Amino acid sequence: MAKTGTDIAYSMQLLAGSALVAIPTETVYGLAGNALDARAVAQIFKVKERPTFDPLIVHTSGLDRIPDFVESIPEKAYALAAAFWPGPLTMVFRKKAIIPDLVTSGMDSVAVRIPRHPLSLQLLQSLDFPLAAPSANPFGYVSPTCARHVDEQLGEKIPYILDGGSCTVGIESTIVGFDGDKVSVLRLGGCKIEDMEKVVGKVQIKAHTSSNPVVPGMLHSHYSPLTPVTIGNIPQLIREHQGKKLGILSFDQLYDDIPLAQQFVLSKKGDLDEAATSLFTGLRQLDMLNLQLIIGTYVKEKGLGRAINDRLRRAEAKRN
Ligand code: TXA
Ligand code: MG
Repeated sequence: MAKTGTDIAYSMQLLAGSALVAIPTETVYGLAGNALDARAVAQIFKVKERPTFDPLIVHTSGLDRIPDFVESIPEKAYALAAAFWPGPLTMVFRKKAIIPDLVTSGMDSVAVRIPRHPLSLQLLQSLDFPLAAPSANPFGYVSPTCARHVDEQLGEKIPYILDGGSCTVGIESTIVGFDGDKVSVLRLGGCKIEDMEKVVGKVQIKAHTSSNPVVPGMLHSHYSPLTPVTIGNIPQLIREHQGKKLGILSFDQLYDDIPLAQQFVLSKKGDLDEAATSLFTGLRQLDMLNLQLIIGTYVKEKGLGRAINDRLRRAEAKRN
C-alpha cells in the first residue's frame, strides 16, 4: 500500500527528488513526475509498464507558464483555454527542447493540460516545473477515478497518493490538435464537442479512426477490463448468453433474472454526465466478480455520451 493523504509539501519534496506521486484531477488520477526530468519520466513508463511510443500529457497551473516549454500557441487555442481551462481539455502544441523526448515519444509536439482539481492546481502552482502525468493505471487497463483504485494497482510501486476524493468528470480529457486554423479532436473526453464548437466553430473528429498510429493512446483496445465485454442490446445479449455468469453495465435500468450484485447502473436518472462519472467504477467493480462476460449498452451519441461510447468500444475490443 502506498502512503495516502493530502500533504502538498510532502508531494513537492518527492517530486523535486525525481520520485512519482499519484495526483487527483477532475478527469482521472494521474501518475505524476517532473516533466523536465528524464529520470522521473522514465520511472513513469516503468511503473505503468507503458511502451515508450505512447506520449505523456504535461500538466501546468497557468497559461502564462506554457511558453516556458512550448514554441507557440495558436489563436484558437487561446479561445479554448479561456473557455475550458482549468478543465478536462488537453491541447497539443509544438514543444521546446526543454521537454525531454521521452515525454513526447520523440515527436516535436507536446500535449498540455491545466487540470481543475484544487489540490493538484495548488501543487502545480507551488512547483517550479510542470508535471508529466498519464492516467495512474497499468497500461491498457481502465483509468482510476479514486485514490483506492490507484492503490489497488500501483500502490506497491509508488511512494505517495495525493488523495483528492472521487473524480467529478470521471473520463479522461478531450485531446485536440491544431492545423493552421483547423481544430481536430484526437481523443474524445470530458470536454464536450458541442461546447467547444460554440467557441471555435466546427471541429474535426479524428478520434476513432483506426489509421491513427501516431497517437498510440488511441489504440483500439485501450481502457479494457480483463473480463470480456460485449456492447449491444442488453435483453437480447442476455438471451444469447444464457447459462453464463454475466455482468450488466446498464445506462439507467435494472434487468430481471440477473442477480443485483452483478448489475451496475451508470445513472438511475439517465444523465450522461453522471454516467461518465461512474463508468470506470462500474467497469472495475464488474471486473472483480469473476464473470464470464460483461454486457453493456451504448448511450446517446451526444455530450459526454460520445466519450462514454468511445470507451465502451475500446473496452469491447479484444486485448492482444
Ligand atoms: O484526463 C487526462 O487526460 C488524464 C489526466 C491524468 O490528465 N491523463 C491521461 O493520460 O489520460 P494518458 O497518458 O492516459 O493519455 C495520454 C494520451 C496519449 O495516450 C496520447 O494518445 C495523447 O495523450 N498524447 C500525448 N502526447 C501527444 C502528442 N504530442 N500528440 C498527440 N497526442 C498525444
Ligand atoms: Mg491512460
